[in-house]
Amino acid sequence: MRIGLLTGGGDCPGLNAAIRGVVVRSLANGVETVGVLNGWQGLMRDNTRLLDRDAVRGIIARGGTILGTSRLDPYVHGQGMASLQPTIERLGLDGLVVIGGDGTLASALQLAAEGLPVVGIPKTIDNDIPGTDTTFGFNTAVEIATQAIDRLTTTAEAHQRVMLVEVMGRTKGWIATYAGMAAGADAILIPERGYDLEQVAAIIQARLAKGRTYSIVVVAEGIQPPGGSPTEKLDVYGFKRLGGVAYAIAPHLERLSGVESRVTVLGHLQRGGTPTASDRVLATRFGVAAADLVRDGKWGSMAALRGGEVVAVELEEACRQVRSVDSKTYDTAAVFFEH
Ligand code: F6P
Repeated sequence: MRIGLLTGGGDCPGLNAAIRGVVVRSLANGVETVGVLNGWQGLMRDNTRLLDRDAVRGIIARGGTILGTSRLDPYVHGQGMASLQPTIERLGLDGLVVIGGDGTLASALQLAAEGLPVVGIPKTIDNDIPGTDTTFGFNTAVEIATQAIDRLTTTAEAHQRVMLVEVMGRTKGWIATYAGMAAGADAILIPERGYDLEQVAAIIQARLAKGRTYSIVVVAEGIQPPGGSPTEKLDVYGFKRLGGVAYAIAPHLERLSGVESRVTVLGHLQRGGTPTASDRVLATRFGVAAADLVRDGKWGSMAALRGGEVVAVELEEACRQVRSVDSKTYDTAAVFFEH
């Protein structure tokens, strides 16, 4: 048996651990893995390489993806299954393991409906894929953001400033909520909740009254800018291209609070570099589980984490409404906002 393996969409820490998991377990299962380069593009343009045991040695600690990735999509930039068929036939692939976020997995589901045998693995720093309790990449992003906020806190204190720290997460506030809670942020603005800058200014003022001359405000990139959305750029999946909303907020907050307000946008730092041990373990568990789903012929499914256990769920589950931060978690972080 022979399968293709691809990583699609934005990269995240842990992808290489997942690739290693799929390849090594598949070899043990008697299944050969062909790596598809640069996401769907590799199947559309016949760009692949065989992944043997040696190809995945020494990669578990590495960020990025040894296969490369892209946001090229078989339905947006091609004719779906027809665009992939020649490569799949030439290589004699019996199926495909797709490691992706919501956009890539949605395309995988469409291809499955066209008859392609597919197994999914969820990945994203955004932690917003339904059907799984968490995704790998998220833990590393939270760790990086938390360390950054810790560092910004000491300089904020030294200069008696407000620091707005913008984190990724697309339309959901998972990274903001977790990193904000971990770093003891004074306010956390996420898309799931409306925000009122006068209230944020009141928190800053309440802190000032208690002799705390600095404040940390964590801003999720997906919140609405004051006064609505400016020009919107979309990616191939129709997702808004985000980044920089904190710059729109800072002058308003400075005016309302009377405290100098500075902005740091963490951006792609949150996606790069070494994955945490926790992400390496989760990615490895997903990779091995996906290889077993292939062996067992469980096409149309996805490896997922449920209550601490790795299980198989329908791929379709991953393509439902993206997952919001639960109220209990956000409200726990909010307990520490001064008033
Ligand atoms: O989905 C992961 C993510 O990093 C989001 O948090 C962010 O909005 C987006 O990808 C950025 O995408 P790109 O790297 O294409 O700019």
